[in-house]
Amino acid sequence: MWLKDSSIGRKLVMSITGLALVLFLLFHGSMNLAVIFSEDAYNTICELLGANWYALVATLGLAFLVVVHFLYAIYLTIQNRMARGKDRYAVTAKREGVEWESENMLVLGFVVIGFIVLHLYNFWFKMQFTEIMHMTGFHDFSVSEFGPTDGANMVKALFTTPIWGQVYCVLYLVWLGALWFHLRHGVWSALHTMGFNNLKWMKRVKCIGNVVATLVVGLFAVVVFYYLGAGIGMLCA
Ligand code: HEM
Repeated sequence: MWLKDSSIGRKLVMSITGLALVLFLLFHGSMNLAVIFSEDAYNTICELLGANWYALVATLGLAFLVVVHFLYAIYLTIQNRMARGKDRYAVTAKREGVEWESENMLVLGFVVIGFIVLHLYNFWFKMQFTEIMHMTGFHDFSVSEFGPTDGANMVKALFTTPIWGQVYCVLYLVWLGALWFHLRHGVWSALHTMGFNNLKWMKRVKCIGNVVATLVVGLFAVVVFYYLGAGIGMLCA
């Protein structure tokens, strides 16, 4: 199949799934901002995204995108290494004009996905999964002191509990740093693959990559810094 067997087909799959995931992140980051302004509004959004049929379909779609993006990334890297053969050992110095992140996209991807697993435990497992368990008859299933739609208190507890809250804030900021490098190059590369690769577009596409990565990471970072400040304030009080 062309999407699997040709190099451009594989890159196209990476680009489309990657850009769709960026759209999810823009939605998720904007949604999270609500927690700063109104806890009730945030909990209403969490309730809408709970174990309803449309939220479950969206979650399955999202999981499909992540799995395809991840598997193709590994496949593409193996194919590229095999194509370069022994040549890849010949060059050890940094290649002129090649950005650090473009050479380390797979490693950055592993860091991002590793933190996603921890994040899903912190929130998705205690919210949507808990609701699914309740709906399927396991009414006593509970892994959090908060109700499955009380996202505001879960976020607050994760980021402000003395010491562990501040550790989590730092961990999330490290995650966001890796995400920024991954998105900056990923968006550039996706647009490049989609044909925006002539001299006129090269600089614009690089700028778009920087803006999108900064916007996405900025949306999440605002929330983390907000609670880091609140947590430190509580510690000092
Ligand atoms: C300040 C940072 C963040 C906060 C406060 C936050 C909060 C949440 C919450 C409350 C949920 C559960 C929603 C529900 O099940 O009803 C969730 C789910 C999720 N988050 Fe985050 N999030 C943050 C950052 C991120 C980042 C950076 C990523 C990805 C790189 C991410 C990916 C996800 C995914 C994949 C889900 C599962 C979505 C689903 O159930 O369909 N989150 N997050």
